[in-house]
Amino acid sequence: MTGDEGRVVLVVGGGGREHALTMSLTSSQSVSAVHVAPGNAGTAAIATNHPISASNIDGMLELALELAVDFVVVGPEAPLVAGLADRLRENGIACFGPDSENAMLEGSKIVAKQAMADLEVPTADYFVLQAGESLEEDIEEALDVFSGEPWVIKRDVLAGGKGVVVTENRNEATNFIKSSIETDGEVLVEAFLAGEEVSMLVIMDEHSAICLPPSQDHKRVGDGDSGPNTGGMGAYCPAPVVTPEINSRIMQRIVMPMHEGLSSQEIPYRGVLFIGLMIDAEGNPFVVEFNVRFGDPECQVTLPLIASDFGDMLYCAATGTLVEHEDEFNDLCSLTVVLASEGYPSTPIKGRMITGEGITSSGNSWISHAGTKLVDGELISNGGRVLSCTAIGGSLQEAAERAYSLIESLKLEGSHYRKDIGYRAL
Ligand SMILES: Nc1ncnc2c1ncn2[C@@H]1O[C@H](COP(=O)(O)OP(=O)(O)O)[C@@H](O)[C@H]1O
Ligand SMILES: [Mg+2]
Repeated sequence: MTGDEGRVVLVVGGGGREHALTMSLTSSQSVSAVHVAPGNAGTAAIATNHPISASNIDGMLELALELAVDFVVVGPEAPLVAGLADRLRENGIACFGPDSENAMLEGSKIVAKQAMADLEVPTADYFVLQAGESLEEDIEEALDVFSGEPWVIKRDVLAGGKGVVVTENRNEATNFIKSSIETDGEVLVEAFLAGEEVSMLVIMDEHSAICLPPSQDHKRVGDGDSGPNTGGMGAYCPAPVVTPEINSRIMQRIVMPMHEGLSSQEIPYRGVLFIGLMIDAEGNPFVVEFNVRFGDPECQVTLPLIASDFGDMLYCAATGTLVEHEDEFNDLCSLTVVLASEGYPSTPIKGRMITGEGITSSGNSWISHAGTKLVDGELISNGGRVLSCTAIGGSLQEAAERAYSLIESLKLEGSHYRKDIGYRAL
């Protein structure tokens, strides 16, 4: 940062997460300008959008150089796995988000399992199945070992949240194993973990790690966790299932060994490590998966609880100087409810107008845009998850009331949202 001019940042992506990141970055003292590529209608209102797709690595590098940004914040995982952070760093641009090798913690569930085995981090036992003469027997053996609980089958590729099947139906399990091996070459069969899921976001560089407050999302489309899986229908933060005792177990058994392992590598991890956890009935944490970026919608509820300068936190992590950032959190609670298009998640209908007095929300509740676009000044739905209504409050109850009163004030034909976000904590 030069004097009081502030830093210039480029945010990569265009969903609800990136709108939330952009909101927090524009309100950071240390940041003077926020650019977003490609962005959405929400980011357009508070920052400068550029029509470059997140998958266009060369285009993104060119844009970052042209804008002479001080750092880049990468929202989604695909460009990280594809090497965007590597390219930026090779060209002298600081990047919040890991290099392609570290991004394999999300890009390959087998790589993640091996890293956890090396560092003795608790996770579910598993088999890797591959094509070969003994495949039929291997499948039967793996399914027998894990029988009595639902079977958990995981593809070993980036599948945008569609690569995991949890089923009590042996045929369905067998079929998914076979079709995955056909397309990917191998597949994981994993022991079922019973318990409550929670997400931990850890900002890190090679010297230091900051845990953000734990959050919980809601993956199923319907109330009471019914119906098909989605990208996420809502979230809240902090999640009270993580008591101080459980938090210290997560730190000792998972966060500290992971940070130590990732810091001792040739190219250290600089970005956020999203740890998906299962907390069992005895309060023991197990890793379900790693992501190498903020969660969506976890991001929307976690960032409002950060009281220190968010832009500075990310810049420091991107430049290996996170020790210099003094992190601070507020005592608030936050909750977000996703407004989904008619037909979501299977066949979302796009292109409908969004209206309602809540559209110009501000203060304690606001809209994070996801699948939206502006057409002749009208706000139009442009995706399955259209937007989410986020609110903060002194209690989770208060945050929930504010978020629901905002979402109830919006109109989008055929749309739906869950009425029970936060129910485990309320
Ligand atoms: N071992 C497991 N035991 C129980 N449920 C699991 C297990 N692994 C995954 N799940 C469930 O499946 C969901 C998706 O799995 P995850 O590993 O997070 O893959 P992805 O997010 O890439 O789809 C998890 O959020 C969790 O609800
Ligand atoms: Mg997941």
